[in-house]
Amino acid sequence: MTTGSGVGLSLENVHAAYGRIEVLHGVDLTVPGGGVFALLGPNGAGKSTVLKVIGGRLHPTAGTVTVEGLETARRTPEALARAGVIAIPEGRGVFPNLTVRDNLRMWTYRGDISLAEVESRAYEQFPRLKERRRQLAGTLSGGEQQMLAISRALAGDTKVLLLDEISMGLAPIIVAHLYELVGAVAAGGVTVVVVEQFAETALGVADRAAIMLHGRIAHQGTPQEMADAAESAYL
Ligand SMILES: Nc1ncnc2c1ncn2[C@@H]1O[C@H](COP(=O)(O)OP(=O)(O)OP(=O)(O)O)[C@@H](O)[C@H]1O
Ligand SMILES: [Mg+2]
Repeated sequence: MTTGSGVGLSLENVHAAYGRIEVLHGVDLTVPGGGVFALLGPNGAGKSTVLKVIGGRLHPTAGTVTVEGLETARRTPEALARAGVIAIPEGRGVFPNLTVRDNLRMWTYRGDISLAEVESRAYEQFPRLKERRRQLAGTLSGGEQQMLAISRALAGDTKVLLLDEISMGLAPIIVAHLYELVGAVAAGGVTVVVVEQFAETALGVADRAAIMLHGRIAHQGTPQEMADAAESAYL
């Protein structure tokens, strides 16, 4: 399915701020390559900020971030994307004014895969997208938009996939389907980091997990350990 071979990523004592307000206060995180890592925590804990730092959209004020063996501090999101680091931000994974098909075409920009191949992979996973290939992405349902967004990971040499709250507002059956694909992408060797507020579905496919509270990693361990910890930490 995918040709990635993730060697994982790590954050060491990462601090990050918006303007003068620091929101990450020394984040330490080790994500093994080629698996699903679930990053959990309540509103405002700093989960999306961690993904922005990993994806090169926000530079840390201190600490180091290593993705696929490369220090990301001076890399742009575009350079990281060319290196196979794909970030799908909260609710903004598609181009709303392009059709489904033209969105898929965007994923071929690196030139190492044809539109026909991307379409065939995406439609195989999500037949619904095929029916709607001429529809503007912005008019798809929430679940369909996430299917389209995640299809990006099928379009070639993805090494790291960062997913921010893909389950938000979706019916459980759609979420289960999306997470099935997440598991399949990881099984192909991609390192997947999923951020979710609520633990259940993400922990169901995760190999490792962590809980963030107030800009720090509060717990890190197996999905079972994190399920117990989440309950007492914030649920
Ligand atoms: N662009 C921004 N400008 C200023 N402050 C921000 C910005 N984005 C996030 N913050 C603040 O940083 C803190 C962490 O936000 P972040 O979005 O990382 O949390 P989160 O864990 O993803 O929360 P949620 O579950 O609600 O998505 C919050 O206090 C938030 O208000
Ligand atoms: Mg968030």
